[in-house]
Amino acid sequence: MNEQIIEEQKEYIEKVKELNKDKTLYYNILTMGCQLNENDSEKLAGMLEEMGYIETSDVENANLYLINTCCVRENAEEKLFGKLGELKNLKKKNNAIIAIGGCMMQEKHIQEKLRNSYPYVDIIFGTHTLHKLPEDMYKILNFPKKIEDILDIDGEIYEGIPIKRNSNKTASVTIMYGCNNFCSYCIVPYVRGRERSRTPENILKEIQELADEGYKEITLLGQNVNSYKGRENYGFAELLRDVQKIDGIEIIKFISPHPKDFTDDVIRAIKDCNKISRLIHLPLQSGSTEVLKKMNRKYSKEQFLELVGKIKKEIPNVLFSTDIIVGFPGETEEDFQDTLDVVTKVNFEQIFMFIYSRRVGTPGDKMENQIPEEIKHERFDRLKELFEKQVEENNKKYIGKTEKILVEGLSKTNEDMLTGRTNSNKVVVFEGSKDLIGKVIDVQITSEHKWYLKGKIIE
Ligand code: 5AD
Ligand code: SF4
Repeated sequence: MNEQIIEEQKEYIEKVKELNKDKTLYYNILTMGCQLNENDSEKLAGMLEEMGYIETSDVENANLYLINTCCVRENAEEKLFGKLGELKNLKKKNNAIIAIGGCMMQEKHIQEKLRNSYPYVDIIFGTHTLHKLPEDMYKILNFPKKIEDILDIDGEIYEGIPIKRNSNKTASVTIMYGCNNFCSYCIVPYVRGRERSRTPENILKEIQELADEGYKEITLLGQNVNSYKGRENYGFAELLRDVQKIDGIEIIKFISPHPKDFTDDVIRAIKDCNKISRLIHLPLQSGSTEVLKKMNRKYSKEQFLELVGKIKKEIPNVLFSTDIIVGFPGETEEDFQDTLDVVTKVNFEQIFMFIYSRRVGTPGDKMENQIPEEIKHERFDRLKELFEKQVEENNKKYIGKTEKILVEGLSKTNEDMLTGRTNSNKVVVFEGSKDLIGKVIDVQITSEHKWYLKGKIIE
């Protein structure tokens, strides 16, 4: 049935293309939030290109502005409403279409606000109706009347949506949608619906096609990748092993796993598959067992450390990155010390740090003992300081080592140099010919500069 729905959308693509055939029309997409949203925007761009629109970074000249929103933290709301203020003037100038989609549109209070205060927004669509952009576009072009296309459902999977990728070397492949975990701070389960996995056949076909097109690195995406369930007896470990077998793909990454689902078979699969990156993203969120319980994370400080120990033992050269939230309701100084303790013990390569942001509709928002802003910021700064010291120490360990690097392009700050990333995601710059872009090569690290490393190519 979903195939039929996508077929219908393809017919709408043709109809819009026909309507626009004598015009040169430009679109501009602003994407907020995580890599899943980036991947969704690649699909939105794919559909728009097939409808005859051309991408532009020049906002002033766009005929269609599309904003793909996030709602994980409050600052995204400020960003959206700020942007809409700017677009109001631009709309007056060239009568462009304004479309907003994604996670934030699933929130009732945002829908209300847009209805009441932003009448010039033409199309509003949610996370479950992204594939219907062609139909929405067709309708707005024919009958200029505001469209709201939002569903509050568990969610479906739609295959075969056209896609325009941001890179021709690295690609993201969404393997599952939604989340069933209901961490008490998080809005995602309310806006992205329940967990649902794509079939292994569809995922492997997409990756095979990417390999055939010359892509070298792929990132498997999902809100909780290790609860991937392709079918009976086929989970994330089996999928990793099958992706490993695809010739042409040289680097495999995945985000994000949940520590509670990091089973032994997944650890063994990573160990056995040499293409899988040895930098594992393992979201900690808090180092305090008490806070973790309130967050509904389903592991303790000790269980997290045990898991890290087990993975390090099985895969000796493994490194970790993580997400940490500071200032969750009720977090005491002692709880925060536990977070610093885990950070010291694990020695993460990368930490994505967040100040707790109250989200309407989540249990965390209703909890007592919300932490004052100044304490949240002060803890954030202390965590950052500890992490920066660790980065400095860790960088020294790279000097003299040889790293396998996918050459991504020219360095942004020095066009005579090439740039790429180590397995641990550190930026490396080095001299070399442009012909190497897109190739995987060996680079020896010669010096460290806090946020990047320098190296030389090993012939
Ligand atoms: N406040 C702050 N950070 C949050 N995250 C999710 N929800 C919130 C929130 N309400 C962080 C988590 C998650 C990452 C994607 O965003 O650390 O892993
Ligand atoms: Fe949010 Fe937790 Fe689901 Fe991640 S696992 S999306 S943090 S509810």
